[in-house]
Formats: sequence, C-alpha cells, structure tokens
Amino acid sequence: MKRIGVVGCGLMGAGIAEVCARAGLDVVVAESHPAAVESGSERLRTSLARAQRKGRIPDAEAALRRIRVTDAIDELSDREIVIEAIVEDENEKVALFRQLDKILALPDAIIASNTSAIPIVKLASATTRPEQVLGVHFFNPVPVLPLVELVPSLLTAGETTSRAHEFVRGALGKRPILCKDRAGFVVNSLLIPFILAAVRMLESGFATRDDIDSGLVHGAAHPQGPLALADLIGLDTTKAIADSLYEEFKEPLYASPPLLVRMVDAGLLGRKNGQGFYSYR
Ligand code: CAA
Repeated sequence: MKRIGVVGCGLMGAGIAEVCARAGLDVVVAESHPAAVESGSERLRTSLARAQRKGRIPDAEAALRRIRVTDAIDELSDREIVIEAIVEDENEKVALFRQLDKILALPDAIIASNTSAIPIVKLASATTRPEQVLGVHFFNPVPVLPLVELVPSLLTAGETTSRAHEFVRGALGKRPILCKDRAGFVVNSLLIPFILAAVRMLESGFATRDDIDSGLVHGAAHPQGPLALADLIGLDTTKAIADSLYEEFKEPLYASPPLLVRMVDAGLLGRKNGQGFYSYR
C-alpha cells in the first residue's frame, strides 16, 4: 500500500502521518476545520525538523512534501488504507467510519482505527465492508516507539490482517503484535492498572510523586516513571482507557482512583495542556 490516509492530525494522527511519510509513502491527512489543519501542519513541521536535527532523517522538507493536510475529507477517496485517529468518542468514530465507507473508492481499501478503547467490531459494523476493518494501534511518541497492535475483530478477513501486517512491518518497519478485540488489547491491559496503582500509591500518601517515578526508573529500568507516563498519555486518555477496561471486566484494579478523576475534572490533563502530575509550563 502506497497511498495512505489519516483522519485527525493531533498527537497520534500527526505521528502516524509522519512515520508513513518518512517511509516514503504518500499521505493525505484529513482534519475537521482550517484551524486544525494549521495546528496539525505545524505539529508535523516541528516534529520532522526535530528528526532532521537529530540526524534521523536526511530531509524534513522532502518528507513534508509527501503529506497533504486538508479539511476536505473527500480527498481521502483514492486511499488504499485510512487510519482513523480522532477523539476517543464512540459516536464520533462510528459516524466517521460510516462516512469513510462511502468515500473510499477502492473496493479493497482498508479502514483502520488507532483506538485504544473502542471495540473494533462496533466500528466495523458501521460500514458495508466489516471484513476490511481492523485496529492498528500505535504508541506515543509514534516516531519513537516501534510497537503497533493489530486488532482484527470477529468480522475481519484474514487477508485484511495480512495486508495490515505487511504494511506495518514491511512498509513502516514497525513491530506488529496480534491482539484480540477486547478492551485494552495487550499493552494497555497491563500498563493502565500499573499506572492506576501508582496514582493510588500517591493518593494514599504512601510515597511521593518523585519517589514513585524514581523507583521505577532506577529500580526497574523504565524510561520514565508511571506518573510521568500518565502525563505523556494524557490523564483524560488514561482515565478513558481505564473506564473501558472497567466496563468490560468489572475488576477493581481497572477502577480510576478519585485523584485521577478529580484531576481530569479540573482540566489537569498532563503534557497536552501543561499541567498534570508535573508542570510543563
Ligand atoms: N516525537 C518524536 N521524537 C521524540 C519525541 C516525540 N514526541 N519525544 C522524544 N523523542 C525522541 C528524541 O528526539 C530522542 O531522540 P534521539 O535518541 O535521536 O536523541 C529520543 O526520543 C529520546 O528522547 P529524549 O532524550 O528527549 O527524552 P527521553 O530519553 O526522556 O525519552 C520518551 C522520552 C521517548 C518519551 C521516553 O521516556 C519513553 O519512551 N517513554 C515511554 C513512553 C511510553 O511508554 N509510551 C507508551 C504510552 S501508551 C500508548 O501510547 C498507548 C495508548 O493507547 C495510551
């Protein structure tokens, strides 16, 4: 697959567009309005310039030229695969999948979702081609982390999973793993309860923020501690994934502790808006 579409040019969408362009693929990114096109384009420029500065790519401008950011979703019509990376809202995603199903002209085009929380089968069922829908879940920061979870639903054709595997491994050079269509897939099923446990530890006064994070960085060789990682993921996203895990399994270890809920209520969302467990201002 050479013609790639991405919907959403936020943190994840821009990262996905970037790795596709860096792999030499032609990318169209659809955003919902002109201001989002502008901020998404700026995000791409900044990240690609950083990659060039670090010597990871020879020419940021060449990669940028392979990406077109637009607010006209119809421009996705000729894409071979479209990866959706919009907000984690089931109604919005279902509406988008319905729309993409109508727009995509190629009969074998794949519609993929970067969701970390919404059942793939619900998105697949909104289309007339559920056998060509699957989850393709990247990790943040997308240009840095090699993992991609591939999530076929009960309705996905084996051929679709194989093509997605070839795209992720062969074209992008990432490391795919196969997951079942259940909340959390593999990584978040393990990572989110770990982060929630760290928040509970902080909340109970058992240890300080810095000691919790320092413990995991220096005692377990994690690149960053669980509270810093929650800030990176976004506290709202962390809570949304926890909620979906809790709804699916009803296990107390997936229940968001009050501190996390109150921080989200207060708009303390982590890196994305400057304040979470740490300050980024
Ligand atoms: N975009 C592009 N490159 C980035 C980047 C970004 N946002 N952030 C860091 N980098 C690059 C840097 O340029 C640097 O590159 P070089 O090695 O070439 O110098 C490298 O990554 C390391 O960065 P830094 O030296 O600035 O900082 P660091 O060593 O502290 O690493 C980190 C930062 C990459 C975020 C690292 O701490 C890390 O990998 N943390 C774990 C992240 C993680 O677990 N993510 C998964 C979250 S779960 C998820 O995404 C799924 C979900 O559904 C919620």
